[in-house]
Amino acid sequence: MSQENANLEARLEEQDAFEPPESFVEQANVTDPGVYEEFEENWPECWERAADLLSWDEEYETVLEDDDAPFYEWFTGGTLNASYNCLDRHVEEGAKNRAAIKWEGELGETRTYTYGDLLNEVEAFAATLRDLGVEEDDVVTLYLPMIPELPIAMLACARIGAPHAVVFAGFSADALATRMNAAESEYLVTCDGYYRRGDALDHISKANEGLESVEHDVSDVVVVDRLGDDLSHSLGSNQHDWDELMADHEGASVEPVSRDAEDMLFLMYTSGTTGQPKGVKHTTGGYLAYTAWTSRAVLDIKPEDTYWCSADIGWITGHSYIVYGPLALGTTTVMYEGTPDYPEKDRLWEIVEENRVDIFYTAPTAIRAFMKWGAEYPERCDLSSLRLLGTVGEPINPRAWKWYYKHIGNEKCPIVDTWWQTETGGMMITTLPGVNTMKPGSAGPPLPGIDARVVDAEGEEVSGGEAGYVTVNNPWPGMLRTLYNNDDRFLSEYWAEYSDEDADEWVYFPEDGAKLDDDGYITILGRVDDVINVSGHRLGTMEIESAVVGVEGIAEAAVVGGEHEVKGEAVYVYAIPEDGYEDQDDLDERASEAIDTSIGPIARPEEVIFTPELPKTRSGKIMRRLLEDIASGNELGDTSTLRNPEIVDEIADQVEAE
Ligand code: WT7
Repeated sequence: MSQENANLEARLEEQDAFEPPESFVEQANVTDPGVYEEFEENWPECWERAADLLSWDEEYETVLEDDDAPFYEWFTGGTLNASYNCLDRHVEEGAKNRAAIKWEGELGETRTYTYGDLLNEVEAFAATLRDLGVEEDDVVTLYLPMIPELPIAMLACARIGAPHAVVFAGFSADALATRMNAAESEYLVTCDGYYRRGDALDHISKANEGLESVEHDVSDVVVVDRLGDDLSHSLGSNQHDWDELMADHEGASVEPVSRDAEDMLFLMYTSGTTGQPKGVKHTTGGYLAYTAWTSRAVLDIKPEDTYWCSADIGWITGHSYIVYGPLALGTTTVMYEGTPDYPEKDRLWEIVEENRVDIFYTAPTAIRAFMKWGAEYPERCDLSSLRLLGTVGEPINPRAWKWYYKHIGNEKCPIVDTWWQTETGGMMITTLPGVNTMKPGSAGPPLPGIDARVVDAEGEEVSGGEAGYVTVNNPWPGMLRTLYNNDDRFLSEYWAEYSDEDADEWVYFPEDGAKLDDDGYITILGRVDDVINVSGHRLGTMEIESAVVGVEGIAEAAVVGGEHEVKGEAVYVYAIPEDGYEDQDDLDERASEAIDTSIGPIARPEEVIFTPELPKTRSGKIMRRLLEDIASGNELGDTSTLRNPEIVDEIADQVEAE
């Protein structure tokens, strides 16, 4: 390293606050620090600003209806259509030939859909769905990877008022079945396969296997031909080839259905503390307004931008910030099918260069991988088109933040570290890139209009420098409305901890720990429930445990998260073999396979550790904290309250030896 570079590194390392670059502020969508006060003084009417970003068929009467809190309603009385807002209105305003989606296939092929093209495709698929019998409010499951047919299908569903439920393509057959059963979904759109690191992956077999476990009749399955082989032999009697159906409906015109603001736009299943995933319900008006507003204010998206979020649409990030937010604003959104290191570790930077990407939004786990690979990869490409960078999904350590700032942003792009959840629909805690000072590692203050706090166990706000729990003390338009078919669980999961029901004071509890600083910036510390965050994906330890204890020869298991250099957290399984199975050396493999089968490869354990006992308190509760410390290689805390303290060292020795 040259002396000059070394000085630069040293300066960067010491710096703990960064001002937004002047060149950015000059052109930013939001630059007035007064926006915080304006929202506070004019709450909840301030949210009209978000609603104004949309085209309504019928104007709403009330911004916020809180009679039945915490079952809040937003923009009551208003009607609109999400697909109209994401497509038709832009075409009507003259943007027919602007690129809406620029897709990069893993093998190097590209496809560009203009707003005009995308509207045609969406109408053709909407007509197809109608012909198959899909009616308003029928839930359509989309089990698709990162191919353009996924957003096309989402918007087609939205057009006819059929909520979609996207299931991440990396999830297993069982996970698909669980979700289709929970949503009683009778329609499935899937594909034959897709590419990973140049290899074709079979997807349809997984879909078919899942369908076998669906408890109700499934009317129709539409299969996209991604691999280009002849599909006709492999389709079952109620299965249709996407291309054939689309050819039959080419040029169809389908009027967007006017939906009530509170009508469901989609369901998204996410992991919780029990084995049963939660069906998070998002609505048409509030969700769309909120994603559009945050895309504009935080991601600084303008119609002429090329914007790229590298998440998978199978997660909420892709719903909100690949599809709905960006398209509602009429921008160009990039979609990439594959992995960042195929064919080489500069793939993402090539995509940035080729598409002249202005805004790039990714996860800390990816940034940590880029760091590990080295700066030579981004240095190969021209990244000068970039104006703003973002992260989401997990805490970002200051070192990774600074690497991203320097090597991707060339110290010219602000970084927004955006804290939010599947349930919040959109961003909640982050700096506004044209307004606030950035502090690496800290997400920032709550967004305007969001009363997020860090509180102690009693719900009292902590002082600067102290840690506690995140709460959100007022509602916001993008919030989940309930858990599908499960209002009770909605109340007990999110509103029980800090609300005062008698006083009709409702406090949302996201189950994250955090630290507050003297400027009101919030540093997220991580989940405080039995949910772990692997590479920015939420996994329930109970779900994994129930897969492991289903394995023949395993008597009991505890699953915890341990620190991981790239993934943030990784899955560690501690298991007690049944008598007679102690010496079976394929037991760990079978445990991993069981996890693959019930959830998918994302939940694959880093290690499976067998032990004759698990550390338990005298009342028989497993001390997970100790198992977490062992997995992370931390100093072990107090073991004196254990019934079997001796087992802790035994387990720790074993983990170290691996
Ligand atoms: C959990 C939500 C939001 C889309 C991706 C994940 C963690 C999210 C941050 C951040 C620290 C973060 C939280 C949260 N998280 N963003 N910027 N800094 N932690 O959505 O699967 O619903 O998970 O992800 O723990 O509760 P999700």
